[in-house]
Parts: sequence; structure tokens; C-alpha cells
Amino acid sequence: MNIRLFQTEELVARALADRVASAVRQRPSIVLGLPTGRTPIATYAELRRLRVEQGLSFARASTFNLDEFVGIEPTHPGSFRYFMERHLFEGIDLPPERIHFLDGMAPDLDAECERYERNIANAGGIDLQLLGIGANGHIGFNEPGEELMANTHHAALHDGTRRDNAAQFGGDPTQVPQEALSMGMGTILKAAALILVATGERKARCVERMVRGPVTTRLPASFLQMHRAVEVFLDRPAASLLSV
Ligand code: GLP
Repeated sequence: MNIRLFQTEELVARALADRVASAVRQRPSIVLGLPTGRTPIATYAELRRLRVEQGLSFARASTFNLDEFVGIEPTHPGSFRYFMERHLFEGIDLPPERIHFLDGMAPDLDAECERYERNIANAGGIDLQLLGIGANGHIGFNEPGEELMANTHHAALHDGTRRDNAAQFGGDPTQVPQEALSMGMGTILKAAALILVATGERKARCVERMVRGPVTTRLPASFLQMHRAVEVFLDRPAASLLSV
């Protein structure tokens, strides 16, 4: 893993946005995989700034988001679609028809997961997948457990993950859906290049296990060790248990 360490969260966001911007400039028809969560918010703000100040264009790019809750509309403030509109899509020139999202309201969720896998394949696969990491080492909504799913699937969320996602549901974890759709670890590992971003001391332990620990379904992020093009963007607190 290629670890890139920065003093502050702001510097992580700036460097990561620059990294994404140069990938987009190099390959305007790039297929990006995108995460939600608090961590990428500053990076998305930087990308919107680069759009305004430097004319960075996403006009030929496509995006696939990692995951979405089951049972809420895309217009619900807790949905990941709503999050992405607010933090990124509204501020860049990505054509709506090339924004791809899992539909948590689909009547047949298994068919919806298969559709997503097919759409990714039809787009030629993901060129650059950005990732966050849950405090328990989850990636997308691939939660720790006895086994992991390779493909896009229907997942049950852990209580801790629901608590971590409560802010957009009035702070009440019981209002957070119990299920989500998520790209599988195999879907993620098929991307040509991966960039994981983690900030803050709360992530230090799972970052250390992801980088140094055994590959285990108990820490889904550890599977990234098997990919040949992974960059990890960290601030000092997130890297505090690594000797880098
Ligand atoms: C959610 C998302 C993950 C994300 C994680 C971390 O559970 N499904 O893709 O990585 O949150 O979020 P945060 O950045 O808020 O710590």
C-alpha cells in the first residue's frame, strides 16, 4: 500500500482533490467510484472549488456510488444520493445520466444489485475507486463478519454503523435503515486503482489493522492489501499507530 501522510485533515482533502482532478484531466471519460461519510466532505468541497476556480470538468466522466440505504427515497435527507447531490453533484458539471446509484426503493433488490454490476461492467469497469473506512473496518457497507460477499448485495447493518450514520436521521439510530445495498469486496477490488482516505484518531486502530494486520473478513478493509494499486491518504491522528 502506498501510504501518503499529511499533517492535517485539510491537507488530506486538498491533496486528494488534486489527485482526483489530475486523473480526470488525464482521462476525461474516467469512471469514478465514490464514497459517502463525513471524511470525503472536505475533498468534495475542494473538487467543487477546482470546478469554479480552474474549470475542472466532469462533463465526460461517469460515477458509481458505493452504497445506498434500503427503503428511503433518494430525496430523503438521510439518503446517500441526497448527500452526494448536496456535497458534490450540485457543484460540478457531471451529466445526470452518468451518475449511477443503487436504488434502495427497487421492488426487487437482488435484481437491482445485478443491474448495478452489469452497469459497472458496461461502463468498462471502475478506473478510480475512492473509499472511506468505517470505525469497525467496514468498506462501503461490507461489514465485518464470518464471510464477505464478492458482488453487489443486500446487507444488514451493524448497530454501531447505524449509530455512526444517525446524524442525518435526527440523531436517532433507530431511524437509520437496518439494511443497505452495497458494492461487494470483489466489485471494489476489480477497480483499476483504489484510494482509501481516513482522518482522525478514531480511525487509527482500523487503519493499523488494515495496513499491518492479517487479511480477514473480521476487517473488510484488510482485503485492500491484495490489490496492486492502492493509495491510502491519512492525516497524522489516523496514522498515529503506524510507524511512518
Ligand atoms: C458509511 C459508508 C462508508 C464510509 C463510512 C465512514 O458507513 N457506508 O462508505 O466509509 O460511513 O464514514 P465516516 O467518513 O463518516 O467516518
